[in-house]
Amino acid sequence: MTNRWSLTGRRALVTGGSKGIGWAMADELLALGADVLVVARNADEVAAAVAAWTAQGLPAAGVAADVSTEAGRAAIFAAVRARGPGLDLLINNVGTNIRKAFNAYSPAEYQRLFSVNLFSVMEMCRSAYPLLKASAHASIVNVGSVAGRFDVGTGAPYSLTKAAEEQLGRNLAVEWAPDGIRVNTVAPWFVRTPLTEPLMAQPEFQQKIAARTPLGRAGEPAEIAVAVAFLCLPGASYITGQCLLADGGMSAKGL
Ligand SMILES: NC(=O)c1ccc[n+]([C@@H]2O[C@H](COP(=O)([O-])OP(=O)(O)OC[C@H]3O[C@@H](n4cnc5c(N)ncnc54)[C@H](OP(=O)(O)O)[C@@H]3O)[C@@H](O)[C@H]2O)c1
Repeated sequence: MTNRWSLTGRRALVTGGSKGIGWAMADELLALGADVLVVARNADEVAAAVAAWTAQGLPAAGVAADVSTEAGRAAIFAAVRARGPGLDLLINNVGTNIRKAFNAYSPAEYQRLFSVNLFSVMEMCRSAYPLLKASAHASIVNVGSVAGRFDVGTGAPYSLTKAAEEQLGRNLAVEWAPDGIRVNTVAPWFVRTPLTEPLMAQPEFQQKIAARTPLGRAGEPAEIAVAVAFLCLPGASYITGQCLLADGGMSAKGL
C-alpha cells in the first residue's frame, strides 16, 4: 500500500531553492524522502545549500541557472536529465518584486516582473510536461501570494503576476488532469526571507503585519514549505486546481 505521507523515491525540482521559502521547501521534500534538484542563479549559494544537505546524506543536487531565460531553462532540464530518468514534482517558487506606485514603473520594470514571476512559470510547466506526463505521481505546485487576491502594498505588477499564476494553476489542473498531473498553488502572506528582510527590519512594519494577522505575526519559511509538501504527497491525490492560502488567517479577517 502507498504510504500517503511519504515522498520516498519521488524526483523533485525546486526553483529558487538556495534560500528563503524555496530552501525550506527543498529541505521539507528531502525530509519526506524525495530526491531534490534546486535551482538559483548564484552558483556559490546553490553549492553551499547542496553541500549542507549531502553532508547529512540527503539526495540533493543543484544547478545555477536563471529560470527567466531560455538558456537557463535548457541548463535546468539538462541537469534534470543528468540526475536520472523522470520527474515527479515541479515547484515553481522563483519570484521577485519591485515596489512602486503604479505610475512610477518603467515598461522594462513591469515586463521584468512578468518575465520572472509568470512567463518563466509557464515555460517551466511546458518544459516539464513530457516528464511529468510520464510520471505516475506528477504534481506541480506554484508559489503565488495573497497579493494576487488583495492589495497588500506590493505594487500592482507583482499582484497581477501572482493573480495570473493562480489562474494558470486552475487552467492547467483541468487541462492536464487526464495526463495525471495535479496542479495547485500555495499563496503566502508576509514571510521572513531575504526578499522581505528590508521591510521586516522596520519595527513599524512588523507591528502593521501583526495587527493585520489573526495569528499575530509574519510566517516562517518552514510554515509555507509544509503546505507545498502536503500538496505533493500521495495522500493529496484528489486535490488539484486549488490555491491554499498560508496566511496566518489574514484573508479571513475583515475589519
Ligand atoms: N517572502 C514573502 O513574504 C512572500 C510572500 C508571498 C509570496 N512570496 C513568494 O514566495 C516565493 C519565494 O520568495 P522568497 O521570499 O523566498 O524570495 P527570496 O528570499 O528572494 O529567494 C528567492 C530565491 O529564488 C532565486 N531566484 C530569484 N530569481 C531567480 C531567477 N531568475 N532564476 C533562478 N533563481 C532565481 C534566488 O536565488 P538567486 O538570487 O541566487 O537566483 C533565491 O534562491 C516568490 O515567488 C515570492 O513572490 C514571498
